[in-house]
This record gives sequence, structure tokens and C-alpha cells, in this order.
Amino acid sequence: MIAVHQLSKTFNPEDGAVLDGLSFELPAGETLAVIGPSGCGKTTLLYILAGLSAASAGKVNIGGRRGRGHTAFILQDFGLFPWKTAAQNIALALELKGANAASRHKVAETLLTELGLEGLGQRYPVQLSGGQKQRVAIARALATEPDLILMDEPFSSLDALTREHLQNTMVDMWQRKGLGYIIVTHSVEEAVFLGRRIAVLTDRPTRVKALIDNPSFGTADLRFKNCFFDRIREVRRVMEG
Ligand SMILES: Nc1ncnc2c1ncn2[C@@H]1O[C@H](COP(=O)(O)OP(=O)(O)O)[C@@H](O)[C@H]1O
Ligand SMILES: [Mg+2]
Repeated sequence: MIAVHQLSKTFNPEDGAVLDGLSFELPAGETLAVIGPSGCGKTTLLYILAGLSAASAGKVNIGGRRGRGHTAFILQDFGLFPWKTAAQNIALALELKGANAASRHKVAETLLTELGLEGLGQRYPVQLSGGQKQRVAIARALATEPDLILMDEPFSSLDALTREHLQNTMVDMWQRKGLGYIIVTHSVEEAVFLGRRIAVLTDRPTRVKALIDNPSFGTADLRFKNCFFDRIREVRRVMEG
């Protein structure tokens, strides 16, 4: 369970609050899409959830299998080390923990297969397409066995088709691993495909404008169904209203 209660963040008092009493709850293993105006504090929110930045006020509770939940962060620009191969990037967390080469190799191979990257483990990031690089970044996050994956506009630099494939992959990982994720996105379609719930944020000072229930998210042929387009219209109305 993730509980965010009256979360506020002010960087400079003269600029006013960025986040201003933001609250929402998310059951463990559920997925959330966050959508809101540019500059409203979406990245700031993810940093606070990841424990990389402190809140000015309010509470964040991320439940996990072992006390506080462990989060993994996936960035828009992949954040891969160019001097490491795909397999080495994936096994990075294990390397930092001092795992031996054999166990690192095993984890990397398993995740390469799960993400459809068979045979690409020895390539360097520069030798991979954008979609493949983002798959490596997802695999690297999964290798840390997180309770929650945080994604900051992860697919926005990819072409439309690659982007939909990656969205399918995230739903697949969610189904197979029961792993919750929070994705920040600018795309209403992406929010409706990936979020069991959709948080629409206001402009600064930022609160949750609406938390929209979206039970049909992630189903195989959703993109062809009327309920998909109905929900897209609903989210757009909330954003504009
Ligand atoms: N480290 C920081 N110091 C001062 N201001 C910041 C810092 N990080 C973000 N901000 C400000 O907070 C606001 C929200 O930023 P951000 O979270 O990046 O928005 P979003 O991701 O929604 O576009 C912006 O006005 C930005 O300038
Ligand atoms: Mg941002």
C-alpha cells in the first residue's frame, strides 16, 4: 500500500509551493498513471516517493515486503552506462552488492529473455535502438527486485509503435510479477492504457484534481474498444475543466 498524505514541497519560499497538500492512496501492486501540466511537480513527486528528495510537509508511506518498500526509478533518457554492455547494465545493482559473476550472468540472461532481448546482452547501449535501450533500463530496474517502479515519462522519446510495445511489456511485467508502478506521462492514451488509477494534477500549487478509476486498463485489445476512448474523453474533460 502506498499512502501519500497532504504532501507539500516548496523549494524557494518566494516562488511559492510546488506541491500543496497532495494526497492519494494506492493498494500494493496496483498501477497509477500521473498526468498534469508541465512544471506542476510530477518529477518532484517521483523524487520524493523514491526517497531522493525530502518533503516540506506531509507523509509518504510505501509499504513493502520488508518494511519500507524498495523503489526503482526508470528515467526518460534510459540512464544506461555507455561503457557497460546491456547485460552489465542490467546486473549493475547485483555488482554493487558484490554478487559473483555467475549469479549476475544468470539474472541478466533471465531478464534479457523476459524483455525480448535475447542475444543482445553483449551489445553496448550505442548499438541498441531506443526501444531496446528502454527495455534494458526496465530489466535493470527489475533486477533490483523492487516493490514499486517509478517511471518519469519513460517512453516519450520513442516512436508510437515502439511506445505501445513497451506499454504492453509493462502490463505484462505487472501481471507476471504483481509489481506496482507509477508512471508520469504527458499522454492521455498512455495514462488510460497503463493506469489502474489515473491521478490528474492541477497547476501549481499542485494538488490531485481527480483520481479516476480505470478497471479496464491494460487489457489486450483495449486500444480498439469504445471504453478506451470513453475514458480518454473523461480524462480530457477533467484536465480541461
Ligand atoms: N531542485 C530544485 N530547486 C528549485 N526548484 C525546483 C527544483 N526542482 C524542481 N523545481 C521547480 O519545481 C517545479 C516543478 O518541477 P518538476 O517537478 O520538474 O515539474 P514537472 O515534472 O511536472 O514538469 C518547477 O517550477 C521547477 O522549476
Ligand atoms: Mg518532469
